[in-house]
Amino acid sequence: MLLEKRITIAVDGYSSCGKSTLAKALANSLGYVFIDSGAMYRGVTLYCIRQQLIQNSKPQVDLIEKELDKIHLSFKFNEATASSELFLNDENVEKLIRLPDVAANVSKIATIKTVRDKLVEAQRLIGRNGGIVMDGRDIGSVVFPAAELKLFITAVPEIRAQRRKKELEEIGVIITLDEVIANLMERDLIDSTRKESPLIQVEDAIVIDTSELTREEQLQKAIQLVKASTCKSSE
Ligand code: DC
Repeated sequence: MLLEKRITIAVDGYSSCGKSTLAKALANSLGYVFIDSGAMYRGVTLYCIRQQLIQNSKPQVDLIEKELDKIHLSFKFNEATASSELFLNDENVEKLIRLPDVAANVSKIATIKTVRDKLVEAQRLIGRNGGIVMDGRDIGSVVFPAAELKLFITAVPEIRAQRRKKELEEIGVIITLDEVIANLMERDLIDSTRKESPLIQVEDAIVIDTSELTREEQLQKAIQLVKASTCKSSE
C-alpha cells in the first residue's frame, strides 16, 4: 500500500505511558518528523529554574511572561541516536530537561497560558506541512484539531512507574518507585485539571493501551492505523 499523503499524527496521553517511544518509532518508520512537545515545556521550565523564576515551588508568572521572548527553543536531529534533541538558546539540553527538578516543576509551568500560546504557535509552525508525529497532552485537542490520526495512549499505573524509573536510571538518576509514583500522580492531576488546555481524550482519538504490548506490537498497531487513515483521507 502506498503511503503518499503525509498526514499529521497527534499522540496524546498521560506521562510515561510510552507516548514518545511509540511516536518516535512511528515517525522513523514513516520518514516523518517527530516532535516531543513535552520537551518544549521542559525547556521553558529549565530556563525558569536557572533564572530563579520559580520560588518556593511557585512559578512567578509575571516575571516568566517578561522573559518569554528570551527563550528560544529548537530541535536538531542527532544522527547517532536517530532522534531530535532540544536546544535552549543554542545549548543542547536534551539530558538536563529529563532531570527530576525539571520533572517536578514542568506541570506548573505548563499551566501558564502565555507559555502555552507561545509553544502551540511554534508547534503549529513546525507541523504546518504535515508528515509529522507530535506527542503531548493537547495535540489532538488544541494544536492539531484537524489531525488525520489521533492516538490516545494509556497504560496501567504500575507499568508507567516502572518505565519511568528505568528511564531515569538510564540517565543516572536513582529514585524510589514511590517517589516516581508520587510525581506521576501529581503531574496527572495538574495536567488533567488545569484551566488551559487540560489533557482530555478527544472523541475521535483511538486508544492504544500499551501495558501488555511490546514496543514492536505497539508500532505495528499504529502503522495499521496510519494506513487506514491515509486511505480514508485520500478518498
Ligand atoms: O510528556 P512529558 O512528560 O515530557 O511532558 C512534560 C509536562 O509538560 C507534562 O507534565 C505536561 C506538559 N505538557 C503539556 O502540558 N502539553 C503538551 N503538549 C506536552 C506536555
